Amino acid sequence: MTNHTVCAVDLGSTKASCLIAKLDHDGKVEVKGFAAVPCGALRRGLIIDEEGAAKAAAKAIEGAEEEAGGISPSASVTLTGPHIMSMDSRGIVTITPTMRRVAEADILEAINHSRKVMMPAGTEEILHLPREFRIDGQRGIADPIGMPAARLEVVTVFAAGDTGAVQLLESAVAKTGKSGVKVLPSAVMAGVGLLSQEMMDLGAVVIDIGGDVTDIAVFADGGLAYTAGLPVGSAHITSDIRQLLKVTISEAERIKIDLGTADASVVDPEAVVDILQDGADKVRPIKKTVIAEIIEARVREIGQLAHAHIQQSGFEGKLTGGAVLAGGGSLLEGLPETMSAAMQQIKVRRDGVSVRGPHARRLKAPQYTAVVGLARHLLDSAEKEYQPVSSFSALKRGFGALKSRFGGS
Ligand SMILES: Nc1ncnc2c1ncn2[C@@H]1O[C@H](COP(=O)(O)OP(=O)(O)OP(=O)(O)O)[C@@H](O)[C@H]1O
Ligand SMILES: [Mg+2]
Repeated sequence: MTNHTVCAVDLGSTKASCLIAKLDHDGKVEVKGFAAVPCGALRRGLIIDEEGAAKAAAKAIEGAEEEAGGISPSASVTLTGPHIMSMDSRGIVTITPTMRRVAEADILEAINHSRKVMMPAGTEEILHLPREFRIDGQRGIADPIGMPAARLEVVTVFAAGDTGAVQLLESAVAKTGKSGVKVLPSAVMAGVGLLSQEMMDLGAVVIDIGGDVTDIAVFADGGLAYTAGLPVGSAHITSDIRQLLKVTISEAERIKIDLGTADASVVDPEAVVDILQDGADKVRPIKKTVIAEIIEARVREIGQLAHAHIQQSGFEGKLTGGAVLAGGGSLLEGLPETMSAAMQQIKVRRDGVSVRGPHARRLKAPQYTAVVGLARHLLDSAEKEYQPVSSFSALKRGFGALKSRFGGS
């Protein structure tokens, strides 16, 4: 395969997927191969069954490679879970002689200085992105190159995850024979897929509601501002239904998807549906409002937890673009309305990513936003020879070969 073909892998608590893609002539993601298989080897973003995870990754990768008609030498994988965190760090360089024009080398030095930040014990950096430059105290500079300065500062955002979780994920994919496996934060990748530069400038939060986790990434002032994971996902709704209505897990999943809504206020109070009683062959009638209330309570909890992180990010007032949902859990009817109410009326919408080639329709579904976003990120990195996410406007405009000198990750 060419250098510009990338292999993106997403290992989740319900499925493993792999997307092999390249950029088409007008810069869109073009699918060369795609496969998704069930995966039960992760809990809350941590691999609990190493063999199962490696097998699921291998199966998804083989399926995608078969369709693409070639083997990818390397692959990268998304990381989810409540252990994900982000932090800012500042880097400063003195420009000599004073008031010389800022050059690329100064920027790299400032970024490297910011990278001397100590990660909390037991965590590992998985991504770093400059988000703002300052010259002699003047803030909000997008592209400092060529500006006369005495002092250049950079604010860099770091995303990190539990070291064990990162290493297990890396090794599950490396076991399939791939080299140079990068682990990248799932919600940030979802944002790369979903959000235009205009949306990142406006400010928006991506909320990926998966099986047993929900990941969030806040983008503001043109780039990544914050990311985190919540220990609750859509499987918790299934589990609540199972316990409270005393049904099997598969019946609870059916009730959630086919009969459920996350907005009890729109349900006809008289509506009754039949559900299968646990351990018995007979059906029993139940009011639809009862199902909706169980679902709504969990969705409200997810919204409240997400909102607490948005507040913690310090960017709540800058999210003019609102919240964009991803993940299979977002498909629940009425969910955007209830999430919005739980997040103090931040406007919430679902979206998907458009790609070219086979599977375009399937890949637009929110379950695949993260893997498509990861492919987009890898393609942008390969194409532009630097580590983008990719919005950071200064980088977009151009100082090319930064990636190697950033020192990876
Ligand atoms: N149509 C639907 N309506 C409601 N929920 C749905 C629908 N389709 C899928 N889901 C739910 O989406 C969840 C799976 O989402 P997704 O595929 O994004 O998870 P994952 O990426 O495997 O897991 P994670 O990211 O948590 O590790 C399941 O709990 C499933 O019940
Ligand atoms: Mg997921």
